[in-house]
Amino acid sequence: MTISSVFDRETALPNADLSARNLTLMGFQTRYDRIRRQLNLLLHLSDLPHWSKQHHGKQLKICSYVDDQYPLVIFHGDVGTGKTVTAEGIANQLIVDDHEADDSLLYKLSTRVRGAGKVGEMGTLINQAFDQIIRSAKHRRAILVIDEGDSLAAARTQDHSHHEDKVAVNTLIQRIDELKQYKGRILVILCTNRLSALDPAIVRRAAVVDAFDRPSDGERRDLFMRDLDDLGLGETTLDALVKATGTEGLHGVPWTYSDIRSRLYPAALAQAYPETGLTIEHLLKVARNLKPSPVLEDDA
Ligand SMILES: Nc1ncnc2c1ncn2[C@@H]1O[C@H](COP(=O)(O)OP(=O)(O)OP(=O)(O)O)[C@@H](O)[C@H]1O
Ligand SMILES: [Mg+2]
Repeated sequence: MTISSVFDRETALPNADLSARNLTLMGFQTRYDRIRRQLNLLLHLSDLPHWSKQHHGKQLKICSYVDDQYPLVIFHGDVGTGKTVTAEGIANQLIVDDHEADDSLLYKLSTRVRGAGKVGEMGTLINQAFDQIIRSAKHRRAILVIDEGDSLAAARTQDHSHHEDKVAVNTLIQRIDELKQYKGRILVILCTNRLSALDPAIVRRAAVVDAFDRPSDGERRDLFMRDLDDLGLGETTLDALVKATGTEGLHGVPWTYSDIRSRLYPAALAQAYPETGLTIEHLLKVARNLKPSPVLEDDA
């Protein structure tokens, strides 16, 4: 494996496509507003001494504790609830809103870092990834998204945890510890379906832990209004669609954002195409027949 293939993608930030996509994500702005200030502080830890001097004329003790944070954020929640798109979107928006930021790089770690199971391989690949990011952060700030984080950071105490996995978690912990010294030049966002499966040492290091849920009735309504407004659906039809995709629907499980956009819409359109136009009936029929993804229980 070459070093570059440790990453699925490297994207220069700010990125216009990510900015455009953020506008299509329900609840994005609310979540961003809630955690933006904490993330912004993480990215500017090197500026704290200057802030303290400016506002207090001395170095406040509190700064040394805040300064000690790990640049790690965890997004956790059920499948298809928007963790990955939000992680990328927030990385982008932070750079868009930071008027002093130079351009930055978004790295997406590939699940290939799990390697082919050779002894020591996963640890080596994690080291390669962090080495590359640290090198590049000398010139540009770096934000690393670790998707499906439980595959790398599963608790070392789990019965089925192999020696190889334990070594990888230890490596990941060491490398995250090391990132502290870069004072905001590097930020890591780790996404997982199962917070409870993550190693407690990883979770404890996170400066921000944010949960993602399946959309509520109101959120699904907003989504349909946004996505389907050009079909001219009335209130009653919208209500029917919200109901068919919620706990009152046939399957008793609310649909995820991903179920709706990646499964309901294409299946409904396929019912209409090519002979007829799309109607609410097509959408309702699919909503009543297709099963939403099963709920992934997490006892965290
Ligand atoms: N807030 C949202 N508003 C609208 N659509 C969304 C939202 N979040 C996710 N989606 C839709 O769901 C799709 C899947 O989202 P994403 O891949 O981020 O989910 P995830 O939580 O990472 O899932 P997994 O746990 O399976 O990795 C997105 O491509 C998008 O179409
Ligand atoms: Mg994901």
